[in-house]
Amino acid sequence: MPKPKVFVTRIIPDKGLDLVKDFCDADIWPGELPPSRADMLERGRGVEGVLCLLTDKIDGELLDAAGPQLKVISNQAVGYDNIVVPDATVRGIPVGNTPGILTDATADFAFALMMAAGRRIVEGERYVRAGLWKTWSPSLLLGADFSGATLGLVGFGRIGQAMAKRAQGFDLRVRYYDPGQPPIPELNASPAESLEMLLRESDFVSLHVPLTAQTRHMINAETLAQMKPSAVLINTARGPVVDQRALYAALKAHQLFAAALDVTDPEPLPADHPLLELDNCLIVPHIASASRITRDKMAQMAAENLIAGLKGERLPNCVNPEVYGGV
Ligand code: GLV
Repeated sequence: MPKPKVFVTRIIPDKGLDLVKDFCDADIWPGELPPSRADMLERGRGVEGVLCLLTDKIDGELLDAAGPQLKVISNQAVGYDNIVVPDATVRGIPVGNTPGILTDATADFAFALMMAAGRRIVEGERYVRAGLWKTWSPSLLLGADFSGATLGLVGFGRIGQAMAKRAQGFDLRVRYYDPGQPPIPELNASPAESLEMLLRESDFVSLHVPLTAQTRHMINAETLAQMKPSAVLINTARGPVVDQRALYAALKAHQLFAAALDVTDPEPLPADHPLLELDNCLIVPHIASASRITRDKMAQMAAENLIAGLKGERLPNCVNPEVYGGV
């Protein structure tokens, strides 16, 4: 029997790619950069499955261009705002993602960003490299205190909870804003009544929400003004959760102490973007889940979702279980 044809939109770690190659007739995009829209439409035509990344937009137009034989979309990411899921659902196509396995790596990284921005590590490193280090100084590069400070988590799902766990070791007080999410006693984190209350009380604010119509620009001029001038904002969620113009204005005016961004809007952030002129803004290229083992596991899980879909089995991790006529 011929193997099912699939399009894999980038070279992913072997742990996943080997599984895909064994089971499928795989067209693997060889470029370092993502396929263009035209390439996506062209290479997707006639395939039974697509294994894609968060850089690839998947919508009704692409699903129709692929054709009625398309059985599955598998995203190698936990976030799936790159996919218009209802467009897949109405066509009966399951969409897979990779939850759980990147929780620790992402929380580790968000914590590292919080420490780095709060204690000005990157600024310090630049200072040394620039030859500016002349002596020990009582007031050189003073940063934030952690012990006894309040960490505010916007979103208290898997990654937010993993942040709370880490915060215990640093004697941080943890509050969270996530309506409907009950407290987890062993994590010692208390819910805030409103986003405004969380922002007003927190010394560090870390974002852990998916990008949706409700969370787009959740952090804007108004909500930034509710934060303490000494506060640090950490974003490892999605760039558009923050209104970057408002963030630039707040950082420039020192209405906020610092920000650390793993995600931006757009990605990549243009090299001449005004945020890059600010010493109190630390920006890295969307690498929170980029640890070796985590990326292997993500590739493997994405391959397993793809193969399950091709076999007509339920995806191990499906974001639109409605396609199975239930949940
Ligand atoms: C990374 O941002 C992911 O959603 O997996």
